[in-house]
Amino acid sequence: MANVTVIGAQWGDEGKGKVIDWLANRADVVVRFQGGNNAGHTIVVGNSVYKFSLLPSGVVQGKLSIIGNGVVVDPWSLLDEIERVRAQGLNITPSGLVLADNACLVLPLHRDLDAAREAHAGANKIGTTGRGIGPAYEDKVGRRAIRFCDLSDEQALQGKIERLLAHHGPLRRGLGLKEVTAEDLLTLLHDIAPKVGPFVQPAWRVLDQAVKDGRRVLFEGAQAAMLDVDHGTYPFVTSSNTVAGQAGAGSGSGPGAGGYVLGIVKAYTTRVGEGPFPTELTDEIGERLGVRGAEFGTVTGRKRRCGWFDAALVRQSVVVSGIEGIVLTKLDVLDGFETLKICTGYRLGDRVLDYLPAGVRDQAALEPIYEEIDGWSESTKGARSWRDLPAAAVKYVRRIEELISAQAVVVSTSPDRDDIIMMRDPFQG
Ligand code: IMP
Repeated sequence: MANVTVIGAQWGDEGKGKVIDWLANRADVVVRFQGGNNAGHTIVVGNSVYKFSLLPSGVVQGKLSIIGNGVVVDPWSLLDEIERVRAQGLNITPSGLVLADNACLVLPLHRDLDAAREAHAGANKIGTTGRGIGPAYEDKVGRRAIRFCDLSDEQALQGKIERLLAHHGPLRRGLGLKEVTAEDLLTLLHDIAPKVGPFVQPAWRVLDQAVKDGRRVLFEGAQAAMLDVDHGTYPFVTSSNTVAGQAGAGSGSGPGAGGYVLGIVKAYTTRVGEGPFPTELTDEIGERLGVRGAEFGTVTGRKRRCGWFDAALVRQSVVVSGIEGIVLTKLDVLDGFETLKICTGYRLGDRVLDYLPAGVRDQAALEPIYEEIDGWSESTKGARSWRDLPAAAVKYVRRIEELISAQAVVVSTSPDRDDIIMMRDPFQG
């Protein structure tokens, strides 16, 4: 049995939550390896709707859930989330939830900095989720972050805080933010330490033991390949590596540990926040996709930008993330269109490109090259076999597979956990 790594192949919000929940059913352990509470996964089980930002989706099924070292964790947000899902009846205990002792904290000062920078950037803002993710990762690579292991070492903590504030003090003054003192921060951390302490462990060891015991692991990616800090539409990206290659580094396991790489691909394209989006539709078709697809952010409630399927973009994600098969989601949102368009490449001045160039000005100037394909009038909502799909919908899926060089192993046809068409179980590799 292979392990599975699930990642988004566009700009996020591809419907990973449902797929991860469905796969978590087959897995023994679920691991988050990057991102933080900027992520938002919605899981619908019967009449219950769970919204997760930090907790691995495995908690719904009571699977061992690990928040790996590659995640930046806002402990207040984590505790709120735990309380919220406990109130919905989920049992979250330290034996079922492990928080890596070497994961870095997101602090209120990171959120302040995120907001202040976005406000000062004006038209050049990134459109972040405002959760302090970028500043927290900056402190991590700047070697001044506070990690969970520091919370139980008073002496180390005081030195760490001094080092952190030596950096943030001048920054905050420059941005006109109120001063944060070492005492303020220490008080906050003293309050939180005993609450998160029971969950903190060397997560890599827990994971290693699980693998040695033959347990199946699901690596749960957040955001998506085109938001990757290296491979995405930089600088309009998040601050972590979101590609599948991060699964090992962000959890303390080897490069092969992630197993089968499953890309989640929406049948059209959306993005939240700023940045290039070659197939964006600002007309009534974009509006229709947004309304039919309920395209509002789980975390911030922001309206998502919508557009046609971009095969050139997904083809690139397939390569940079080593995607072996895809789950195509939200096909039913396309029901009722007479004609659909798929972007196969771009025109950039007098050049034709079959990939997304790295430069920010080039990305902004791309004009999509479309091919048209017949739509279908029937409903695909809730379809559970290929036979339930109209021929034109099957043709649409086949054309996507061809253009992106990856097979659709699953097609998802509604938010409900069981409404899927499965070609192959990803855990079978
Ligand atoms: P940050 O991760 O909050 O710094 O935001 C950086 C960019 O990533 C912004 O464009 C966000 O909208 C986007 N982003 C971050 N997390 C998600 C997500 O889970 N889904 C979709 N977009 C996201």
